[in-house]
Amino acid sequence: MRETTRPVIYRTMKYWGKKPHNIWGNYIKKYCPKNGIVLDPFVGSGMTYFESIKNNRNPITIDINPISDISIRCLTKRNIDIELLSLSAKEIIDKISKEKYYINEYVCSCDLCGKNVDIYNYKINGKSTITYKCNNCNKIITKEIKNYRESNYVIDKWIPTKKMSDIESVSESFLKKIDKDCIAHLWTNRNLKILSEIYDMILKIDNSDIKELLVFAFLQCLHLTSKMCIPRNDNSNRPLSTSWGRPAYMLSKKTFEQNPLLAFEKAVFNGTGILKALKNSEEYLGKKIKSNGRHFLGSADEILDNFGESFVDLVITDPPYGNLIQYGDLSEIWVSWLEHYNSLYKINHNKEIIINKNKNVNYYKNKLKETFIKLNKVLKNDGFFILTFNSNKKEDWESLFYAIKHSNFKINKILLQKNKRSSEANVKAKNGIAISDYYLICQKGNWTTEFINNFLDSWEIDV
Ligand SMILES: C[S@@+](CC[C@H](N)C(=O)[O-])C[C@H]1O[C@@H](n2cnc3c(N)ncnc32)[C@H](O)[C@@H]1O
Ligand SMILES: [Zn+2]
Repeated sequence: MRETTRPVIYRTMKYWGKKPHNIWGNYIKKYCPKNGIVLDPFVGSGMTYFESIKNNRNPITIDINPISDISIRCLTKRNIDIELLSLSAKEIIDKISKEKYYINEYVCSCDLCGKNVDIYNYKINGKSTITYKCNNCNKIITKEIKNYRESNYVIDKWIPTKKMSDIESVSESFLKKIDKDCIAHLWTNRNLKILSEIYDMILKIDNSDIKELLVFAFLQCLHLTSKMCIPRNDNSNRPLSTSWGRPAYMLSKKTFEQNPLLAFEKAVFNGTGILKALKNSEEYLGKKIKSNGRHFLGSADEILDNFGESFVDLVITDPPYGNLIQYGDLSEIWVSWLEHYNSLYKINHNKEIIINKNKNVNYYKNKLKETFIKLNKVLKNDGFFILTFNSNKKEDWESLFYAIKHSNFKINKILLQKNKRSSEANVKAKNGIAISDYYLICQKGNWTTEFINNFLDSWEIDV
């Protein structure tokens, strides 16, 4: 089975390790009866939630990261006043586009026709350039500037104050490069000024759904307007866009400083913006959501304690892969802002299942095991437990098998699924092994290596 093009709801919010939605959906259909209950304790961007609804199953999902919570809430909203939403966003854009700081930093006149145009970005890539699009001339123009300078505006609106040095996986070299030990310095002064003004206006909106949707849109511009974006190659022919290249906090000499107001406008009105995502959600999941879905923000092992026994038809999940992606740390770029919107939106780093400076492989494998034991308890006796995993490290696989074995599951099958695109996890992995995801089909029962001997042999794993 091949991965198909992702619907917009899966493209709106950045997250690492998204699975192919249609393949995920097929597992849900195959291993959970209609109207049955599907549980995912590590739901990430929310795919299990959405695919369960799409396929008439009832999802129960958990994640320690508030990004899952806000994504699921926003992408399943119904009966939103779209006109009011557009109008609220336009009001913000309109107001800021007239402010002096914006005009000083992000407006110039077109070299060809003299009309005022918005600057899309500043790039430092050997030389300094600005890029603007002139609708009058119908041209995108990049030109060298001699006087690239940082601005120095007073920021009088709320901004996050989290220390970068409190984020476990941040490297020493990063801390040396950043101007101040504060997450707000992931943005240049002018971008921070504009972002803080946008956020302030969003948080003053009365209608709570519209406020939340615009907060969600705002999140998408945070990484894209940070100092961590680097210019694409000149020959990529995409002078207006960029990305946060690697799953790490990094600062490079080459920078791509993107206009936050245009980024916000895109996050609301463009192809993967929230307006399109809401529309796509109705098309993909139905105008009325028929399933009973519940999502919980918190640590899976704690949340699972509140559940009854033997009521879940299928557990399907994609657990953290060792130290490969530092989900909690990386998400601080968004969550450090979210705390100001909702004080419950914090990451409980202590409880994250991960390997990092403070948490070794024993922590990782024992926490996985504890969670799997609780999954075993809530799963029906004939229910399935399906896991995907993606790592090219033997120790990670050993941890996973340890957790499966000691939570009283057995593996019936291991399937290899080729991915269409290489995910961040794959890019980071050194050899080709992780280009594919493994799907492990498990059931309750005593551990046996009967079905997986070949797999264990090929990885030289002793269990
Ligand atoms: C590999 S990712 C899942 C990605 C998901 N497949 C997707 O499509 O986005 C693993 C997830 O586990 C979550 N996680 C880590 N420790 C957790 C814990 N103790 N309880 C709940 N979730 C946790 C992380 O926040 C992360 O979202
Ligand atoms: Zn022009």
